Amino acid sequence: MNIELEAAVEEIVKQFAIDKDFLVEATKHFHESMSAGLATSTPTRDYMPMIPTYVTGIPTGKEKGLYLAADLGGTNFRVCSIHLGGDHTFEMKQSKYKIPVDLMQGEDATADGLFNYLAEKVKTFLDQHHNEHAEQLKLGFTFSFPVNQTALNRGTLIRWTKGFDLPDCVDKDVVELLQKHMELLGVKVHVAALANDTVGTLLSRAYSNDISKTNSNTVVGAIFGTGTNGAYFETLKNIPKLKKEDIPEGAKGMVINTEWGSFDNTLKILPCTKYDKLVDDETANVGYHLFEKRISGMFLGELLRVALMDLFDRGLIFQELYKARGGTLPHRIFEPWLISAEVLSYLQIDDSTDLKMSELVLENHLRLPTNKEERLVIQKLTQSISHRAAYLSAIPLASIVARVQDQYKDDDRDFEFGCDGSVVEFYPGFRSKILEAVALIDPLKGSSKKIHLRIAKDGSGVGAALCASVS
Ligand code: BGC
Repeated sequence: MNIELEAAVEEIVKQFAIDKDFLVEATKHFHESMSAGLATSTPTRDYMPMIPTYVTGIPTGKEKGLYLAADLGGTNFRVCSIHLGGDHTFEMKQSKYKIPVDLMQGEDATADGLFNYLAEKVKTFLDQHHNEHAEQLKLGFTFSFPVNQTALNRGTLIRWTKGFDLPDCVDKDVVELLQKHMELLGVKVHVAALANDTVGTLLSRAYSNDISKTNSNTVVGAIFGTGTNGAYFETLKNIPKLKKEDIPEGAKGMVINTEWGSFDNTLKILPCTKYDKLVDDETANVGYHLFEKRISGMFLGELLRVALMDLFDRGLIFQELYKARGGTLPHRIFEPWLISAEVLSYLQIDDSTDLKMSELVLENHLRLPTNKEERLVIQKLTQSISHRAAYLSAIPLASIVARVQDQYKDDDRDFEFGCDGSVVEFYPGFRSKILEAVALIDPLKGSSKKIHLRIAKDGSGVGAALCASVS
C-alpha cells in the first residue's frame, strides 16, 4: 500500500480505538449522567433525559388478552394485534406500511398529515384482520422518539431523531394526536399506553423469558438499530424527580426510558473525530444524540463515507478512477446517508481473494469501481468504525447491570440484556464485541452471576400490548 495512504489510514484507525481504561471511565460517567437525569426534570444537554414511563412492573408471563399495537420509530409504521396466551407465548398478526418521505420531513410535512396517515393504516389493519370485533380494543402506541411522558398514555414530543423533522409536532401530545385522527376516521380504538420501543423490548423479553429455563432476570431492554436506546426498572427512591402525586398507588419502582442516545451531548468523555463532527453537522438535531451518532445503524455508513471523502480530498484514494472519469467520481459516493449498515456488514467480513465480494457490493450499492488497495482501506475503516460502535454500546449495558444488581441480591440468577434492532441482530460480530467490552468493564466485580445478551424479537408489538394490558 502507498506509504502516505497507509499512514493516513493508521491515523484514522487510531482515532477510533477504544481501550479498557476509557471504557471503565465512561461507564462511571454514564452512571453519574443517569443519577443526574433521575434527579431533575429540567431538560439539559448535560445529562440523559431518564424519562419515567409510568410502567410500574415487569411482566411475569401470565398476562392474557387481545390487544393492538402501533409502532412508529423509523421508516415503517407497523400495526399488530397480539393475543397474549398467559404462558409466556403469544400470537401476532401484523402489517407494515412504508411512511412516505414527504410526511416525515420537508416543507409540507405536518403533525396532522403524519397522524392522519397513521390512523388510516390502523383502520386498514382492523378492516383486514378484525372486522368481526365489536368491542373497543386497547392499543399500545410504541413511539420511539424522546417524549416527555406524564402518564401511561400521555406524552409530548421533546424532539425528533433519526431523520424525522416536523417542527409543529414538537411539544404536542402524540397520544392525543393519534386518538384524534382515529376518531375522525371512526376507528373504535382506545390508545391506552404510550411506550418507547426499548420499554416494549424490556417488557416483551421479560414476558417471553421463562426464568425456570434461563435462570436469568431481564434487566435491560435495548435497541441497537437505526437508533439506540435502553430502558430498565428503577426503584422509586432513586427517582427523586418523580412527584408524590405522580406515583401510581402501590408502585415500588418504575421503568425508565434512559434515552441514552443523548449520553454526553457535551462531549466530556466521548471520542470525537473530525468525521463525527462532519456527520453531526449533516443531521437535523445537531449537538444532540451524540452517543447514538457513534453507534447506531443510521450513522455507521455515513462515518465511513465522510472518512473516504476525506482521503479522496487529500488525494490519497480513488485517484485512478477520478482521472479515468475525466475529473469526477460516481455521484453516489457524494450523497449523505447512502451507505447503509447492511453494506458495511458485507465489507466487514469479506475474506474472499482480493476482496472480490466487496468489489461487487461497492459496485452494486454505490456504482463505485475500486482497486484492491482501496478495498483494503475500506475494510479497515469499516472494521474500526464498527469496533468502536460495539465497544461503546457496552457502556450503558454495563452501567445499568451494576446499578440494578442490588434489586436482585436475594436470588442467584444471572442477568440478561434483551436486545433488538438490525445492528445487534445482524451485524457480524457485534454481539460478541459488546460482551467482550462488558467483560473488560467487569461491572459485577466479584459476583459469580453471569451476563447474557439475548435477542428480543417483536418488542415493540408485544411490549406495547403488555403496556396496554396494565392500563
Ligand atoms: C430515539 C429513542 C429510540 C431509539 C431506538 C432514538 O433515536 O430517541 O426514543 O428508543 O432511537 O429506536
